[in-house]
Amino acid sequence: MSLSIDEIQQLVEPARVHSSVYVDEELFQLEMERIWGRSWIYVGHESQVKNPGDYYTTSIGTYPVILIRDAKSKSLHVLHNRCGHRGAIVTQRQCGNAGVLRCPYHGWTYKTDGSIHAIPHVGGYKDTEFDKNDEEFSMKKLPRVEVYRGFVFACLSEDVEDLSDFLGEIADTIDNMCDRSPEGEVEVTGLNCHRFIHPCNWKFFLENLHDAMHPMCAHAGTSDAVRSYLSTMPEGTSPPPEAEIIDPFAGSYDFFDSMGVTGLDKGHGYMGGKKSIFSHYEMYPEYLEAMYSAYGKERTEEILSFNRHNACCYPSSTIRDGIQSIRVLRPVSVDSTIIESWTFRLKGAPEKLLQRTLRYSRLINSPGSMVGPDDLDCYYRIQESAKSKSIEWIDLQRYFGQDIKDDDKDTAPGTSDLAIRNQYKAWLNYMSREA
Ligand SMILES: [Fe+2]
Repeated sequence: MSLSIDEIQQLVEPARVHSSVYVDEELFQLEMERIWGRSWIYVGHESQVKNPGDYYTTSIGTYPVILIRDAKSKSLHVLHNRCGHRGAIVTQRQCGNAGVLRCPYHGWTYKTDGSIHAIPHVGGYKDTEFDKNDEEFSMKKLPRVEVYRGFVFACLSEDVEDLSDFLGEIADTIDNMCDRSPEGEVEVTGLNCHRFIHPCNWKFFLENLHDAMHPMCAHAGTSDAVRSYLSTMPEGTSPPPEAEIIDPFAGSYDFFDSMGVTGLDKGHGYMGGKKSIFSHYEMYPEYLEAMYSAYGKERTEEILSFNRHNACCYPSSTIRDGIQSIRVLRPVSVDSTIIESWTFRLKGAPEKLLQRTLRYSRLINSPGSMVGPDDLDCYYRIQESAKSKSIEWIDLQRYFGQDIKDDDKDTAPGTSDLAIRNQYKAWLNYMSREA
């Protein structure tokens, strides 16, 4: 690597960032090592691997990994999805159940804890330095795996703080999503998600989540059409359930400002708190009844008045507690990122809530949705522009210098660039550590 820490530090100023951070191949490789290789990355939910032998394949940065439930001990492992023999990816199936994992190249098989099960024609290794029990030849376990209320995080490096310290206040978002269930638990819906490639650097996606200046412009086509359609409905007619989801995307600048934005340590952040685009959603009486009987009225009101929008767990995921979804980032290359959108069922809640969660996902996050493609077009435009080097610096000055500082967090009006500046503070911290 030829980029020095001094050179890297010159790319980020307090209120602007150099466009090369979105297009430079060397920086991307360093990010995979220094950010994605050294922080807790969300890999999946334990309900995706409920039974012994269940597995799910994903990636951490550009490393293929597999989340698997041990067939014997039933504990969770995250393994490098590579054969200890010649390094081939062992399984490309998205998910499944297996007593042993078999590499399709030379047929080496592995137990669900990653250790070798059997090797064909093994006699050829006699009197060599090969040792079946040497971890070097196994599907290696990631050194750190922790679960927070069912959400599984792993780290490629041993040298990382405990997950709860890493999450800090962002854990409240996970807590709130779970607490919205009368049973205090969530589970993934189905075994898969909306997954598609975004033609942009992974950071452009994260920035958009806290960019409250764009919905009224980028999503105007959709929200204007919905409002126009609603205006044609005869008086007294109930609007279709899609309306409560689409309409807030046309919220005013004042609405988004009043929501507020918060920047936390380690690049985490969130919009809203008490108010978000979900806070006006219809409250179904049968759901309230289930919540009251589980938690009592006062605690239920406390849970349901917590409303964050797009809580960012930097760098790998973004959580919406109010609509029970999580979006997961999987960088592929400097200008290409897989984005997954997972939905969750609130255990013990009426089916209507799940239907709304799925409706939201189809309308907002699916590749054929009414809102996501607007963002996709914007990502493409800014990535292409960064690539052309037609703009050298990208401005982040909205409400700069006006943050309200508390002990461990900064807040500002919702349309501030605060959260993006905060992400770059973390980026700089990670990227300034060589080893
Ligand atoms: Fe958007």
